[in-house]
Amino acid sequence: MESLKPLKHHADVLDAIIESSYDGLWICDGKGKVLKINRASEKINEVKAKDVIGRNVSDLVREGLFDKSVTLEVLKRKKRVSILQTLNNGKTLLVTGNPIFIEGKLEYVVTNDRDITELIHLKEELEESRKTSLKYYRKLQDALKKERDEENRIVFCSKVMRSIQETIQNVSEVDVTVFLQGESGVGKSRLATMIHTLSERSKGPFIHVNCGAIPENLLESELFGYVKGAFTGARKEGKPGMVELADNGTLFLDEITELPLNLQVKLLHFLDSGIIKRVGDTRERKVNVRIIAASNRDITQYVKAKHFREDLYFRLNIVPIIIPPLRERQEDIPLLIAYFLERFDEKYGKDVTISPEAVDLLCRYSFPGNIRELSNILERLVVMSRNTQIEAGDLPDYVKENIFVPIEGYSPVSPLKTTLKNLLAEYEMNILKKALAVCKTQQEMAKLLGVSQPTIARKIKEYRLNKRKS
Ligand SMILES: Nc1ncnc2c1ncn2[C@@H]1O[C@H](COP(=O)(O)OP(=O)(O)O)[C@@H](O)[C@H]1O
Ligand SMILES: [Mg+2]
Repeated sequence: MESLKPLKHHADVLDAIIESSYDGLWICDGKGKVLKINRASEKINEVKAKDVIGRNVSDLVREGLFDKSVTLEVLKRKKRVSILQTLNNGKTLLVTGNPIFIEGKLEYVVTNDRDITELIHLKEELEESRKTSLKYYRKLQDALKKERDEENRIVFCSKVMRSIQETIQNVSEVDVTVFLQGESGVGKSRLATMIHTLSERSKGPFIHVNCGAIPENLLESELFGYVKGAFTGARKEGKPGMVELADNGTLFLDEITELPLNLQVKLLHFLDSGIIKRVGDTRERKVNVRIIAASNRDITQYVKAKHFREDLYFRLNIVPIIIPPLRERQEDIPLLIAYFLERFDEKYGKDVTISPEAVDLLCRYSFPGNIRELSNILERLVVMSRNTQIEAGDLPDYVKENIFVPIEGYSPVSPLKTTLKNLLAEYEMNILKKALAVCKTQQEMAKLLGVSQPTIARKIKEYRLNKRKS
């Protein structure tokens, strides 16, 4: 470059270029006098060109317009300098000053201001959102872990459940076939999941097949899969069955008594060989699964009636686990109540508790639906509850009425040898005994049994029932 005094035309072009820059530009001479600033710089620095042109930047700094001047730095150091400048208006600028030497002499300093406030903002926002998503990720992980831990936990205090838990722990370590037996709702599915998650196969799939829920004509292809064109309505590409999907994992065959005899043969073959053939296929496939079977029926009856193959039964029944119904382990009920209350309180954001009388009443209930029923009852109570405490009176009628059922093991010696009157009296006495055990006052008993308090008082006297509890 020869000089800054080019032809008029050149000067115009140069001006246009300087003005068009999105970055602010300052041009000073070799002494620090401002020669030109563009519009972008006027805007960024909130100054007017006419107020600064012709002035020396050291004066501008002294007057407090800037906290530091990159021009002065360039003049001092005679090389390119970049600084971050914070303006009074809160903007952050990245300022770079370039020295321009003409014949070895520093003649001009061209400074470039770039407003990076937005950029910093964006960076901060990015950082913020990164932190937030990390926070949510952790929360999600925690929740998932809690859920997993929940599944790996069973609530109990009864001896029988302790020994079942020990068995579960032991069998989970080996690939042995387990057969879970118990009424609906006792926890068979939960125990099956637990065996899987505690086992070496936990990273593999857990496939739950409810043999009773799949229509019989579909069961074979659902279980073993099929190849293309195996039957009308079959998917074109064919489909792997549940057995195949459980490869390297656990196959949970629920309601196994509902498996038709022809499939029992096929299952037995698979259990012995580890090999399956999809429906319509000639190819054999090796599948590595651990089997857990379950039934809520008395399978021995099925075997006796020849509805279930004895050889398959023996093959499945290597480790039998019999889970007793809830009514046979009543000591677990209060713990389960506490457990479900906590879960549902959390789920519905409530703080519901339960009175000892209500717990007492629940402990006497027979729970034909077992733990599932208990869980459903409590969920409904928590959802419906406006008070903070569930009282005996809030329980469903069938739970309250359940105390009318004669005491366990009670049966009249011989109904034919005694009068109806005596039998009814005995029955009535038993009802009163039960009511006495769950109610605090005679009023409460009267309400529960739907009679007046004097009637209760009279009957108590008549049967000489002394309240055992305070
Ligand atoms: N010991 C237990 N502690 C806590 N919850 C349990 C327990 N056993 C079962 N449950 C819960 O009770 C419900 C019914 O259990 P589930 O395993 O489905 O019974 P099943 O398969 O025998 O019908 C499920 O919600 C399950 O998580
Ligand atoms: Mg189940």
